[in-house]
Amino acid sequence: MSTQTLLKQLYDTPEQDIIKNIHALKAELGEKVLILGHHYQREEVFAFADVSGDSLKLSQQAADADAANIIFCGVHFMAETADILTSDEQAVFLPDLAAGCSMADMANDAQVSKCWQELSTVIQPDTCVTPVTYINSTAALKSFCGEHGGIVCTSSNAKKVLEWSWNNREKILFFPDQHLGENTALAMGIPEENMIVWDPFQPLGGNTPAAIERATLILWKGFCSVHQLFKAEHADTMRKNHIGIEILAHPECSREVCETADFVGSTEAIIQYVKAADVGSKFAIATELNLVNRLRIQHPDKPVWFLSPMVCMCSTMFRTDPQHLYATLLAIRDGNNEHQIIVPKAQKRWAKLSLERMLNLA
Ligand code: 13P
Ligand code: SF4
Repeated sequence: MSTQTLLKQLYDTPEQDIIKNIHALKAELGEKVLILGHHYQREEVFAFADVSGDSLKLSQQAADADAANIIFCGVHFMAETADILTSDEQAVFLPDLAAGCSMADMANDAQVSKCWQELSTVIQPDTCVTPVTYINSTAALKSFCGEHGGIVCTSSNAKKVLEWSWNNREKILFFPDQHLGENTALAMGIPEENMIVWDPFQPLGGNTPAAIERATLILWKGFCSVHQLFKAEHADTMRKNHIGIEILAHPECSREVCETADFVGSTEAIIQYVKAADVGSKFAIATELNLVNRLRIQHPDKPVWFLSPMVCMCSTMFRTDPQHLYATLLAIRDGNNEHQIIVPKAQKRWAKLSLERMLNLA
């Protein structure tokens, strides 16, 4: 039966039956399957995660995992990362193959190679630029970084990675998220004048040769469509309406939001911050809705608001539902690899190197 036909049947089945079936099949498969769940997953799926975490923690878990089959409840680049870090005997599955990341789609191999070539008309990138890719990127870009002396970063370790990169070469090309690069560098005290933005649709990224020579940080013009919806005005409104409230923001938010925030950190850091706070502390949080709702439920004694008046949900993270998770477990049981993510061997070698450079910094 094709996946489409199976899914149609599963959508006609009451959801509580699907949940029961997942429990039973997961128990039957036992240690053969490990389920990793990112913090942005919907509750019904998140509940099945053997390990939950942010991108850094989940990539470390994937690298250390012994299970023959890993189901990544997250998005495409996360499953690719897990496939790169696991052995050839292990298989990685993404329950819905259409669960991508719009930010990761904002830089592709051809665009970054073209940027490198254009930079070489002004400077010598292979000796003076470290390429740094946010983990939210394709395996091809991780491979590009590995091959060109570069590295991967996540929102948890961006500062450490930028330090490493500047220790190696005087300039950094950071992609695909402008905001993570910019917010991290500003927090490190790097002056704004040292940064330029690279627009892949403009010659020389929209910069003059002199600006490229001067810059020490070249920021790719990419963003997260979810985190860009938070605005500094939302923080003003929250502070007016809730005296003493603290604003917590993910570094994918704009510079204005991060500058007004009381704390900026990855999903894992935000969770730890709320956990460690005194009872009665109040928070407005600028990150994905499923995580904020979970924090609200876990900490009834610490009121939590979503920073934006609009609903900002990662629609691709939301694609993983119990039906897709169950279909993936059935595929593993039946030895069918329809949900498997396989990174081409040629990319794996260099991509692994750039990921290992990052993991070795921990
Ligand atoms: P974390 O690394 O904080 O989990 O962020 C991943 C992500 O995609 C945020 O949008
Ligand atoms: Fe990508 Fe943004 Fe979704 Fe994170 S929240 S997976 S960066 S689209």
